[in-house]
Amino acid sequence: MKYLVTSALPYANGKLHIGHVAGAYLPADIFVRFLKLSHEDVIYICGTDEHGTPISIQADAEGVTPKVIVDRYHALIKEAFDGINIEFDNFSGTARQPHFQISQEFFTNLYNNKHIHPKDTLQFYCEYDKRFLADRYVEGTCPNCGAAGARGDQCDACGQIYDTTTLKEPKCKICGNQPVIKSTRHWFLHLDGFTQQMKVWLAEKDYWKENVRNFMLNLLEQGLVERSITRDINWGIPVPLDEAEGKVLYVWFDAPIGYISSTIEWAQKIGQPERWKDYWLDPKTQLIHFIGKDNIIFHALIWPAMLMGQDKTYVLPHDIPANEFMNLEGQKISTSRNWAIWVDEFVKEFDGDYLRYYLACNAPESKDSDFSWKDFQNKINNELNNTLGNLAHRVFAFSKKQFNGEVKPVELSENGRAVLSEAKELCKEMEKGYREYQVRRNTKISMDIARLGNKYFDESKPWQTIKENRLRAQETIYVCTCLLRMLSVALFPIIPKSMRNLRKMLGLGEISHWYECQEEYKDTLILDEVIQLFSKIDDEVIEAQLAKLNNAAKELKTSADNPNETIPFKPEITYDDFAKMDIRIAKVLEAETIKGADKLLKLKISLGSTERELVAGVALSYKPEELIGKNVLMLANLQPRKIRGIVSNGMILCAQDEGKLSIMLPDRDSKPGSPVS
Ligand code: MF3
Ligand code: ZN
Repeated sequence: MKYLVTSALPYANGKLHIGHVAGAYLPADIFVRFLKLSHEDVIYICGTDEHGTPISIQADAEGVTPKVIVDRYHALIKEAFDGINIEFDNFSGTARQPHFQISQEFFTNLYNNKHIHPKDTLQFYCEYDKRFLADRYVEGTCPNCGAAGARGDQCDACGQIYDTTTLKEPKCKICGNQPVIKSTRHWFLHLDGFTQQMKVWLAEKDYWKENVRNFMLNLLEQGLVERSITRDINWGIPVPLDEAEGKVLYVWFDAPIGYISSTIEWAQKIGQPERWKDYWLDPKTQLIHFIGKDNIIFHALIWPAMLMGQDKTYVLPHDIPANEFMNLEGQKISTSRNWAIWVDEFVKEFDGDYLRYYLACNAPESKDSDFSWKDFQNKINNELNNTLGNLAHRVFAFSKKQFNGEVKPVELSENGRAVLSEAKELCKEMEKGYREYQVRRNTKISMDIARLGNKYFDESKPWQTIKENRLRAQETIYVCTCLLRMLSVALFPIIPKSMRNLRKMLGLGEISHWYECQEEYKDTLILDEVIQLFSKIDDEVIEAQLAKLNNAAKELKTSADNPNETIPFKPEITYDDFAKMDIRIAKVLEAETIKGADKLLKLKISLGSTERELVAGVALSYKPEELIGKNVLMLANLQPRKIRGIVSNGMILCAQDEGKLSIMLPDRDSKPGSPVS
């Protein structure tokens, strides 16, 4: 069997938190690790989702290009994955050139096959910014639940997706003004044309998870509709039609194609550029998409339709294990409220395997689950340390002391045989669990195996038998070592790093096959140095984490819904660093727009003793006449820079609030040229 496993491409404008990991990444990584142990042909593909309005809004807010944002978060996300050993065969990004080509090819095929049609639509348009306000560029009151802060395409409070123009009290996110409604042409994917094919395809998906299957059956019953797949923004993949100048593909159109472009990138990297076809164009491939439940519609309906409408015969998803959400201390994880545990911060203080183990124990497989720090501590201390760690510890200590670390196979007594065969049965259960993505159950079973070992050790009392019957004590150690070896295989998909350590201690190399957990070893094992597998987590450490979580959320609340919370603070500087800046009061004498540069104004300012010319990137937030005559703050000793052919001699200071600029004004009348410190 051939498997192509993917996890939802994370957006490249935020860091990775535990909710993401629990839903879409860890379960996939575990599944893939299991398949690889079983010598199956499998690749695991992912990358960052690099288009969409949130990314261009954040870029505007920071005054950088979207590419800067995307590259920064791509690196942060990749590093976080590495920290918890989520191991992709390839991790790409959707802003790369080959992805553009294939995305345009997807559009063109669907278009030529008459699945895409244009339609004039009404959209919010900001007269001030002279642009259409796609998706998250507009905010207002949700037409469904009345919540404030609803976005143009979806309300975060109730989850409803709606027609943008029904948003109440709309406001432009750039300038805060109320937009008007204007007509613009967009291209729509007509899903109704796929209804019959969808029904046939879905009919054999009786093994799907209930949540996904029911969602789809429901949609089909309601009737499939058309969905807009283009946008009026400039960050994205150009729509490959002459008459669509200036429009880009909707992020959700190009993102899943990233699964293919990332596979192509993988094939090139391994020097077999055609290899991707073995997966994508072979109907025998099992294509499996791991996602969170908010992505079901895109993976189970729109994406398969996009694939069906191609000229090439692409494989369709075999399964879409969508997970529910993970909450945190009983509340919904929220990045905007800073109610989250960030993976990069977690791995600075704890072993990545601890996160993997706890999230696996607590996987939101069939209902929402909860991350609780106390429960985390309990699981790590009681299960990894007191159960599994304890078994390893006592076996090692005893055999080093009594047998010089040599574990020899012996003739098994009935009891010893019974213990091993029970463990083998449990491992078989785990195999089934892995195949069915049941990681939660598998953590339980693995502890049952460790507990079985501890109980057997207690009852066998090797510390007594060693005195009169060395062979019985030797058997106890042999059986327990077999159990540890089985566990090193059976738990490897969940906690790979620790199980590698355990194998090293056991004097074993890499796992040769999953079936190592179905057999006893036949040779003498020479136990290696003891490595501390796990260590317990103290109460204070947990208290500190809880305090950190609560403080971070509180800090945010007091700064009154400040949307800038994700912009990191810069490193400390000395007073001398600060004193190098010559900040002055400057009076704006003249201000004018610059042709062809809609974000810039050319200013002439007075510093009292001298006048200067400079270029300021404030045109989206200020009209020239609003600035003339104002006293502003200016960095006067910034190296001159040529912008659009004009030498800019200084910089006006502005506060940036999500792309909205606010020029700094002195509180009292101050003469031009006055120094600021
Ligand atoms: N970026 C999306 C999210 O985080 C997921 C994209 S999945 C893909 O919700 F299939 F579109 F790539
Ligand atoms: Zn505006």
